Amino acid sequence: MLSCFTLPAAVTLVSYAAALDIPGLLSSLGPAPANDLRFTNFQAPGAGDVRSPCPGLNTLANHGFIHHNGKNMTIPHLIAGLAAGMNIGADFTTVIGAAGLLSSPNPLAGSFDLNDLNQHDFPIEHDASLSRQDAYFGNDYRFYNPNWQQVLSFYKGMAYTNIPTASQAKYARVNDSMVKNPTFTYGLREFVLSYGETALYLQTMSDPVSGVAKVDYVRSMFEQEKLPYALGWRPSAQPVTLPSLGNMILELYNANPQKVPEGATITADSYKDAFEVIVGGSEILANLTGGISSALGL
Ligand code: HEM
Ligand SMILES: [Mg+2]
Repeated sequence: MLSCFTLPAAVTLVSYAAALDIPGLLSSLGPAPANDLRFTNFQAPGAGDVRSPCPGLNTLANHGFIHHNGKNMTIPHLIAGLAAGMNIGADFTTVIGAAGLLSSPNPLAGSFDLNDLNQHDFPIEHDASLSRQDAYFGNDYRFYNPNWQQVLSFYKGMAYTNIPTASQAKYARVNDSMVKNPTFTYGLREFVLSYGETALYLQTMSDPVSGVAKVDYVRSMFEQEKLPYALGWRPSAQPVTLPSLGNMILELYNANPQKVPEGATITADSYKDAFEVIVGGSEILANLTGGISSALGL
């Protein structure tokens, strides 16, 4: 019986890779023009649509930059959609997209559904999220306002974010979970990924360098899973890349140094390294992404 399921998946992977124009895909990336209707066309998920513990992907699905039903997310689809909606570079989308594929019941089929990402503790979901509950307490993927209010309390009276405050808010969530959750898990993977997620909201809501985003923009993305286009937000002119995120992780860490799990050292490459470990190395990454990672030099 098993081979009946595995064979079509392998065939799908081969044909997907063969049919893909990788140079064409990678050469035409960037934010959609300001008058693209998707920026203003927000639609909350309806019956049968699925969403995830990721406010970024949910937001992009709500605007139709990626499939609104939340299903059948392939790496090429994500590369195009994340670039159009938020100017995310193909390098980041490829590595995190490959990690996302591992959450699918059949990674070799080359796609995942957003609710596959709800799986606790692997490959990406973790405790001490900014806006979700730990799996120990129940639902780890739906917006959970009490935890988010802990984060927002650090921005009280502030119109803009900054690196030290973002770092403190993130660390407060870790301490809160550590005290309350008897199954709390926070190793190097969780440490690096959660810094990356703070860097992601700072960079997508502003630019890949400053860490200064309007708090109202950040709230729109987390609380409504809506692009703050009507509030004046536009995608960054510079792409958000694996190096830009890696650099900001280091800045966030240096602003408020915490004990690093497993005695590791945090560098600008830690983010890239974490994904390489999660995915299982560059060859598996190349297989999972139909060769896209190799074309990007990853
Ligand atoms: C293929 C691309 C992506 C995948 C597979 C992915 C997956 C995930 C997953 C599984 C989580 C849950 C981690 C947790 O337990 O907190 C998460 C969190 C997060 N993601 Fe994504 N993500 C992607 C792209 C993005 C993008 C483009 C953004 C841009 C804003 C983003 C922003 C965030 C943020 C801010 C969190 C933290 C949420 C929280 O702590 O409450 N992600 N992502
Ligand atoms: Mg979580």
